[in-house]
Amino acid sequence: MCGIVAYIGKKQAYPIILKGLKRLEYRGYDSAGIALLNNNKVNIYKKQGKVSNLEEYANTLDTSGNIGIGHTRWATHGLPNDINSHPHFSNDGKLALIHNGIIENYDVLKKELINRGYKFVSETDTEVLVHLIDDILKNERISLAEAVRLALNEVTGAYAIVVLSQDNPDQLVAARKSSPLVVGIGSDNEFFLASDATPIVEYTKQVVYLNDEEIAVVDINEGLKIVHLSNQEKTPYIQELELHLEALEKGGFEHFMLKEIYEQPRSIHDCFRGRLNAEEGWVALGGIKDYEQKLINANRIIMVACGTSWHACQVGEYLIEDLARINVEVEYASEFRYRNPIINENDVVIAVSQSGETADTLAALELAKHKGATILGICNVVGSSISRITDAGSYTHAGPEIGVASTKAFTAQVTILTLMALKLAHKKGTISESRFHTILSDLEAIPDKVKKILESDDKIKEIAEVYKDSQNALYLGRGSSFPVALEGALKLKEISYIHAEGYPAAEMKHGPIALIDEEMPVFVIATKGNSYEKVVSNIQEVKARKGKIIAIVTEGDVQVKELADHVIEIPDTDENLVPLLATVPLQLISYHIAVMRDCNVDQPRNLAKSVTVE
Ligand code: G6P
Repeated sequence: MCGIVAYIGKKQAYPIILKGLKRLEYRGYDSAGIALLNNNKVNIYKKQGKVSNLEEYANTLDTSGNIGIGHTRWATHGLPNDINSHPHFSNDGKLALIHNGIIENYDVLKKELINRGYKFVSETDTEVLVHLIDDILKNERISLAEAVRLALNEVTGAYAIVVLSQDNPDQLVAARKSSPLVVGIGSDNEFFLASDATPIVEYTKQVVYLNDEEIAVVDINEGLKIVHLSNQEKTPYIQELELHLEALEKGGFEHFMLKEIYEQPRSIHDCFRGRLNAEEGWVALGGIKDYEQKLINANRIIMVACGTSWHACQVGEYLIEDLARINVEVEYASEFRYRNPIINENDVVIAVSQSGETADTLAALELAKHKGATILGICNVVGSSISRITDAGSYTHAGPEIGVASTKAFTAQVTILTLMALKLAHKKGTISESRFHTILSDLEAIPDKVKKILESDDKIKEIAEVYKDSQNALYLGRGSSFPVALEGALKLKEISYIHAEGYPAAEMKHGPIALIDEEMPVFVIATKGNSYEKVVSNIQEVKARKGKIIAIVTEGDVQVKELADHVIEIPDTDENLVPLLATVPLQLISYHIAVMRDCNVDQPRNLAKSVTVE
């Protein structure tokens, strides 16, 4: 949440920062702002709304300067208006600062600073930081970096910050704690700073991921220096980025979300590439190899996550319990950490997160680690905070996901969890050889089957046309299709603002059935398998109340076809793999409905992709 980007070097900073902000806009789009140092003066440009608003405004002004900082905001403290936009600046206008995170003790600090004569113009928590640094600088003859260090020692909360100072025209000072920050090292002492590597990749592949409580000083003359909050100097660990620029562009698609839905045959394949071989009959997850026995012997596997990733965990629970017979619990990270959970050394806690930065998920992991559990991670973003604090883990390799509503990250997470369930089951001996081989072959065939589903997109669009004006929608499924129903409902409400609920199909009669009338679309996952007949009965119950049924069925289905108003066929596969297929038409339905309702598909209102506040 909130994206920060900064540049110092010989080039013009404004175009680099503006482009970077567009890349980071998925992190929040309530407002955007830039500060540039030019002719020994700090110039600030801020606008409510999207980066394009800022661009329209700033393009009419002088935006020269070789050093600058930029911010795209997801509002926490204070309305999303021009004044609350970052950068925030000192009363004399010489210091400007951008921040991602929350300063928890801002109220106390603000009162002290007001007593010392500082004037606050915004309602944000961030503004205390700039006045605090200014106050320290005015009272002590120390460097900007040292003032930042002393200030941060007084602060509790989460932050990634960058400070620009008129009196230090050759440097930027940045710091992080619980919010991500990457330093890009260009040629000739040119530096980039950003919340993730996407604004940096086209200029350099050399990056340093800052660790918690580290301060980075990037100086045109002296290069990069890192110190810990405790004042201990650190050696920068330079890494090579694997990110490719094409992955950050729409590649001919109208929206990133559509591109990402269509990428799934590739992303699922990339996720299991080198990790499974059906012909030879093996599956391997290198990252967690040393923890396989620990997982098998675990008292419980506890999965923590938020949003769509939580739904992937729910699918994982069905798979691991069914195949490997290990007790799994799935927890909302935010709830887990605040209810004094019972965790011990025999538990394994697995965090699942696309971004690897979600604050609640990170905090839940830290709690579990503190209580002695083994902590593992399943993340998409390489080098993310979760991937760095966990004992071990697996990357999903889905590639950058830019659309705020998660699609390909979900199917990749489910793929990893499927591989994990298979590996553990095989090693533990809870799956027969023939079943193991069947599922492996079926998993290898999933990318082609997803491709086939994508070919029905025109038909799916026609169904979307029929239901685009609905006020409500229900999604039903049983077994591992229940989390698919939850995910289908979440996708619809996130991007089209239609109220939607997911339920276990049998639970419908305990409440939601009261809502059903001829206006209510009910999406049902009714693929062949153990509970098929039961789901057919649930469909009958909806029909008896004149609800409209849109059913996801297995190719060749006859029974549901006769009952449903619309059917979408998906290829046959092992029952445990149905979530990987059934999710795709639901993603497409939501996408088309949102487009038809003129909604901003890639950046739905009030949402952000990387939720770094609790
Ligand atoms: C936000 C996003 C969701 C995402 C959730 C968890 O709410 O809008 O798409 O599922 O955060 O994010 P994570 O990066 O931890 O998977």
